[in-house]
Amino acid sequence: MDTTHKESLVEKAKAYQQKGDLANAEIFFSEALSNDPNSVETLSNLGMLYLMKGNAQQAIDSWQKALSLDPENLESLSNLGFICTQIQDFQNALIYLEKASKVAPERDDIGLQIAQIKTHFGQYDEAKGILKPFLDSEPLSQNSYLMMAQLELLTNNSAGAKSNLEQLLKKDPNLVEAMINLASILETEGKAEDAHNYLTQAAQKAPFHFQANLELGRFLGQNGQAEEGLTYLKKAVQIQPGDWGIHVHLGNTYQEIGDFDNTIKSYKKALSINPDDLGTRQNLSRVMSRFVPPWHLRMLADHERNDAFEQAIEKAIKAESVALDIGTGSGLLAMMAAKHGAQKVYACEQSKYIAEAAKENIGKNGYAEKIQLFQAKSTQLTAENLNPKPNIIVAEIFDSGLLGEHAVPSFRHALESLCEEGTKVIPKAAEVKGKLLHAPKSSSVNPITKISGFDLSGFDQFRVPEEYITQNLSEITHEFCSDEFKILDVDFEKLWPAMAPNQCRRFDISVEVTDNKPIHGIAFWFTLFMDDSIMLSSAPGRKDNHWGQAVSFFNQPIIGSSGQKLKVTVNYTDTKIWFEDPQLV
Ligand SMILES: C[S@@+](CC[C@H](N)C(=O)[O-])C[C@H]1O[C@@H](n2cnc3c(N)ncnc32)[C@H](O)[C@@H]1O
Repeated sequence: MDTTHKESLVEKAKAYQQKGDLANAEIFFSEALSNDPNSVETLSNLGMLYLMKGNAQQAIDSWQKALSLDPENLESLSNLGFICTQIQDFQNALIYLEKASKVAPERDDIGLQIAQIKTHFGQYDEAKGILKPFLDSEPLSQNSYLMMAQLELLTNNSAGAKSNLEQLLKKDPNLVEAMINLASILETEGKAEDAHNYLTQAAQKAPFHFQANLELGRFLGQNGQAEEGLTYLKKAVQIQPGDWGIHVHLGNTYQEIGDFDNTIKSYKKALSINPDDLGTRQNLSRVMSRFVPPWHLRMLADHERNDAFEQAIEKAIKAESVALDIGTGSGLLAMMAAKHGAQKVYACEQSKYIAEAAKENIGKNGYAEKIQLFQAKSTQLTAENLNPKPNIIVAEIFDSGLLGEHAVPSFRHALESLCEEGTKVIPKAAEVKGKLLHAPKSSSVNPITKISGFDLSGFDQFRVPEEYITQNLSEITHEFCSDEFKILDVDFEKLWPAMAPNQCRRFDISVEVTDNKPIHGIAFWFTLFMDDSIMLSSAPGRKDNHWGQAVSFFNQPIIGSSGQKLKVTVNYTDTKIWFEDPQLV
């Protein structure tokens, strides 16, 4: 056989392999093999080529053939050991690797693989025994030290682990992996300052080392220096953007500084890389839930509310209807309008994340064509945004006290600036009614005075005395001290003129007291007139009423008696209702 020719074929094949031209490499290796089918070297090389091409079985066959010709062929033994480890056939991996180690006892990479498999089987002492000779070998086997330290930790010997790492650092003072591992042990032992020093050293010695930046950033984030931590974490992301863990740490650190937009972005990125990370999924939901108040879900479960809106929408929508849903939330009312035949629907939502979810819902339900969604406050929209002009508004932007979610200014702007003349509003009107309230327990924190014999008035600063609170009356001890009385009527289609910012309207009402108990305030609620016949109320007694009621507490309880009249001044602006000067007359 022409050996020169054979060598040149193998050399050519190797050159192609190095360039990444695997097809040509295979042609030349195969030719070399057909010239000399018993060449262990060619078989061994061909095995690696097959592996690079992703054909593991052909690689195994090639190396096994090489071993049948030369049972001590080191490359075939170690490669078979490697591939068996990869496919988790640890028993066979050990057989090949132990044979390889006998042929080349000085090869620390083979020893490390054997130690790793032993560790996998929980045979820590055997693993240590295998690594021990490499600790004194030349050149320095850093990985043997690092793994030995890991084994010491696994056997609860953190002193041993530290000593291994310190020895390693003496031999190679620039080895950042040793610093990082040492810092991790010190941090677990509560020695934060020492850990910090090692991590800082690591990041200084290797400014582009992924793990060094990640660990220092994470450490700072968890130890009150989140802003500084972010600098290192951002660097780590630049070095290895595809690492899922770094995005989790970034998310955690952004959360520390209250940057929830970036927290969400980072967690979403982490999940796009590793969708199985349950912890991050839960963290993401927790952060997202900050943007959707808990009442939003209770509201969607208020089916009487949903049905009242849908009935009114179904009745009102005609083929020529162009609807505007102000504050679309999940997209529900906009989709109802689309479903019942509106030619076009505009929906707007001021909250970014809620708007994104609405978009998803609208798409899922097949209304993406018909509903045009704006992530904006309705008052930011202009007539140019909406063509054709809306001729019907559907909106549920009411809080327990009716006006607090800015329904009046939002409707006024839409009617004056966005819609056709004569636009209908669903609901078309509302009335606010209330009753005098005796609520002894709740009144003890409105204002807060003595609780369990202690003066807790220092806590009163957390209350807004002028504002009503939202309270489901069925949940508190209470009695009414009057019949129901009217407080306010609002016609959403013909609103009162806008008031100046510090202006309010006021009028007095006189209410007959029907009980002798102390009167602590006024509870009030509303009825929405969806149209001339469909109504929806937030008065006490309706099950699943997500609004609850509004309660305004007086500064002092009023001790009246049945038959007396209580005069009170009702104040209202575009966005709130409150009461002043309650007096028995
Ligand atoms: C009470 S929820 C109602 C959601 C949805 N329409 C429904 O009925 O299920 C009100 C939503 O409107 C949004 N919102 C309130 N006023 C708004 C306005 N003027 N422009 C845009 N969004 C508004 C809030 O962010 C909230 O998501």
